[in-house]
Amino acid sequence: MKVLVVGSGGREHTICWKLAQSLKVEKIFCAPGNAGISEVAEIVNIGAMDFEALIEFAKKEKIDLTVVGMDDPLVAGIVDRFEREGLRIFGPRANAAIIEGSKAFSKELMKKYNIPTAKYETFESYEKAVEYVKAGDFPVVLKADGLALGKGVLICNNLEEAIDGLQTIMVDKKFGESGNKVVIEEFLTGQEMSVLSFCDGKTIVPMVSAQDHKRALDGDKGLNTGGMGTFSPSRVYSEEIAKDCMEKIYKPTVEALSKEGREFKGIIFFGLMLTEKGMKVIEYNARFGDPETQVVLPRLKTDLLDIFEACIDGKLEEVDVKWEDNACACVILASGGYPEKYEKGYEIFGLEDIKKVENTIVFHSGTAFKDGKFITNGGRVLGVTGVGKTLDEAIKTAYNGVNLVDFKDKHFRKDIGIK
Ligand code: AMP
Ligand code: GLY
Repeated sequence: MKVLVVGSGGREHTICWKLAQSLKVEKIFCAPGNAGISEVAEIVNIGAMDFEALIEFAKKEKIDLTVVGMDDPLVAGIVDRFEREGLRIFGPRANAAIIEGSKAFSKELMKKYNIPTAKYETFESYEKAVEYVKAGDFPVVLKADGLALGKGVLICNNLEEAIDGLQTIMVDKKFGESGNKVVIEEFLTGQEMSVLSFCDGKTIVPMVSAQDHKRALDGDKGLNTGGMGTFSPSRVYSEEIAKDCMEKIYKPTVEALSKEGREFKGIIFFGLMLTEKGMKVIEYNARFGDPETQVVLPRLKTDLLDIFEACIDGKLEEVDVKWEDNACACVILASGGYPEKYEKGYEIFGLEDIKKVENTIVFHSGTAFKDGKFITNGGRVLGVTGVGKTLDEAIKTAYNGVNLVDFKDKHFRKDIGIK
């Protein structure tokens, strides 16, 4: 089979790497991809939002299956467009991807179907939102309704911050149209974790759990980023908790979407928090996480292509999804200054040496080629995944790998997997 993967980060590198292990996959293309991905897939110079060019390419190359990694094209309806052309594609249609595209929608869905989440109200008027926060408790959480590159969430410790935040989102429109509506939410405390799941519209199969470190600096200090490192499994996600989540969160979510006429085929990413009152949903995403994928897919034993096919055909129940009894940790190497201002174009050293190290895999997030050499080309540059029998072993292996790769202004967290 010929497969086209849409996206350009570490997540897409991991998906391509895993699909390359399938005996049924003859050739993988990745659009727009990155330099590292070119080691497992042929890079296609078409942007992820250029649906018409992607469709033309898929037809011309007789692509058997397209897999979408990123959120923007899913929310904008890439799956609907491909299906209309009779092309086979893995991912939710726009009417289901809305669980990520609109926080107001997903909160309403959870309220209607009794899925545990933080209490909230939605506002379209700045004045009414200000009135509401004046009467409420602190901290309070403000969320721009739409996609905002993972940056549309503000945690405000007092009234002044909350009013400032509402101004930023609703009036100054820092996150663009995403700020036309705002969700104002109760602040929850507890351990956060991520559970990604395969879904065929009726059956849901959760993957092994993972935990992300979102802040830029050690000790969870600094700005929110796309993710500075991950590990799998989470140290707190027990079998008992998993069962409870299946009954109270995972199944009800799929059933709710189905009842609303929004059948979800693809990946549902549950951002969860274990509070004193049990597990609550912090957010839904309609795709694999980045860098969660880098620690989850290396643990998958079953052929990923078979799972994607079963999801599209509504036959996930027939697949026995199996996992290794091991652990993974991924440390992101970022450009100094990320997530704010940073430089690009620095040569990356050590990538050949690290290939020889056992149980260590490098997934590229933002790299390019220049004069036959790999150079940095983004805020997040590489993810080094360590695989081990235990979490501690995996973390040690990942950091050993981190020391073998270098580039100017290399920044990484030294406490991935610690908490
Ligand atoms: P989100 O983009 O919804 O994942 O939010 C980004 C981050 O904000 C989450 O990973 C949490 O750490 C934090 N967050 C979001 N909602 C809440 C909440 N209700 N209470 C506490 N923290 C939250
Ligand atoms: N790592 C969080 C995300 O992919 O949204």
